[in-house]
Amino acid sequence: MDFSKEAIVDEMMGFFKAKVITSAFELKLFDAISDTALTLDEVCTRCNIPVNSGKRLLIALTAMGLVNKENNSYLLNQSAKSYLISDSKEWLGWLARHIDSFLYPLWAQTAKAIKEDSDQRKTVFGDTRSWFDILYQNPQDVVDFQEFLGIFARPFIDGMVEEFDFSQYQHFLDIGSGIGSLPVAVAKRFPNLKISICELPQAASYLRDRLMVTEGGENIEVITGNIIEDKLSNNNFDLVHLGWMLHDYSPSIQSKILKNIYDSLPNGATFIASETPLNDDESGPLFTTLLSINMLVSTDGGVESTRQEYLQRFNEAGFVNTRVLSIKGPRTLFVGEKN
Ligand SMILES: C[S@@+](CC[C@H](N)C(=O)[O-])C[C@H]1O[C@@H](n2cnc3c(N)ncnc32)[C@H](O)[C@@H]1O
Repeated sequence: MDFSKEAIVDEMMGFFKAKVITSAFELKLFDAISDTALTLDEVCTRCNIPVNSGKRLLIALTAMGLVNKENNSYLLNQSAKSYLISDSKEWLGWLARHIDSFLYPLWAQTAKAIKEDSDQRKTVFGDTRSWFDILYQNPQDVVDFQEFLGIFARPFIDGMVEEFDFSQYQHFLDIGSGIGSLPVAVAKRFPNLKISICELPQAASYLRDRLMVTEGGENIEVITGNIIEDKLSNNNFDLVHLGWMLHDYSPSIQSKILKNIYDSLPNGATFIASETPLNDDESGPLFTTLLSINMLVSTDGGVESTRQEYLQRFNEAGFVNTRVLSIKGPRTLFVGEKN
């Protein structure tokens, strides 16, 4: 790969663009110009910001292409509208708030995290509690985190529901389900399957409320639990899925989670973890390599792993017939069975 100085500077200044976008979300600027073109004064009045600084933000957003300027009026680029306006299902404002409250302050401590090989929650929040205890202390943060993860998960869920055969199972459990997008998609496609979710108590109440108003969610059971601390209380699940959760924890905690799940399952049950693994030679994918640094600065020892590393942890927990299944979309499935 050949680099120019400009390309490196551009990469280094990437955070300028990130902050322009998250600030526009915070100021509700995208909502203000979603359908009707407004003059500078009108935008600034709507957003309750000074004209001088508001103009700089609008000029930057226009240069980035997210806003179009015509005849001295500003209008949202309509191709980006569904991601930027707050009454859209695809709204990325959840992610913007999570970036501003958590990711950006934690990433500011990246060099320190690497020197210390440690998360930076104490430096940033003055708090030594676990990542999810800090993340979930404020109900709005639960909503932000769960909703943007739901958007991230959508392409993987389509692939999993189409390509994995749920029809041969009786009772499916999704551990750490977030907003329950996978169980809801499975419920719609396999109406005879009994479906349960196990979530941390702080996330479960939002999940229950959300399932009640989601088509396909009404009959899904939500149980609260912590799969690091406890085995599952019910051992009738013949199919269990754990999505994008192993990477939130250190390899030793991952092994504990896998052992707890293994011990809870009846013989003949199938277990699946969906993850975004590193390439076998650790050459990428780029997003996964960056996510691994994100796990370092924020979580309890979380780290991205290769396919082999995940399979080895499965084998050590006792699973047999362990294998990797590639499906459409961003995730890879790791599958194991209990004899
Ligand atoms: C990164 S999110 C993944 C959400 C979703 N499964 C997906 O695939 O996109 C991890 C989820 O696991 C839940 N979780 C984390 N630790 C847990 C634990 N010890 N026991 C049960 N759930 C846990 C979190 O509340 C969160 O919803």
